[in-house]
Amino acid sequence: MPMINFIEFSGREHQIEVPAGTSVMRAAVDNGVPGIDGDCDGACACATCHVYVDPAWLSKTGERTSTEEELLSFASAAEPNSRLACQVRMTEALDGLLVRMPEGQH
Ligand code: FES
Repeated sequence: MPMINFIEFSGREHQIEVPAGTSVMRAAVDNGVPGIDGDCDGACACATCHVYVDPAWLSKTGERTSTEEELLSFASAAEPNSRLACQVRMTEALDGLLVRMPEGQH
């Protein structure tokens, strides 16, 4: 199963393995990783699953959707490597993915 490295804003790290096809948001929420809320349950409608994808992984995680792009434009602290974690689905090729959480989800 592919593994995700989550790094909280505080620097605390979590390594979570999930079946391929699981979203990064679901992996965090279902495994008690703090810092990702997922209020809309993955419907790409809340932006409380904002993460920063490590630059080394950006090309592998694909492009933002247009809805995601729009939501991120309202997210505080959005950066060029920002993604909504519910829109990134794990594959074997993403094994070892590294994402960092923002200071808060607003
Ligand atoms: Fe709401 Fe990702 S969980 S946008």
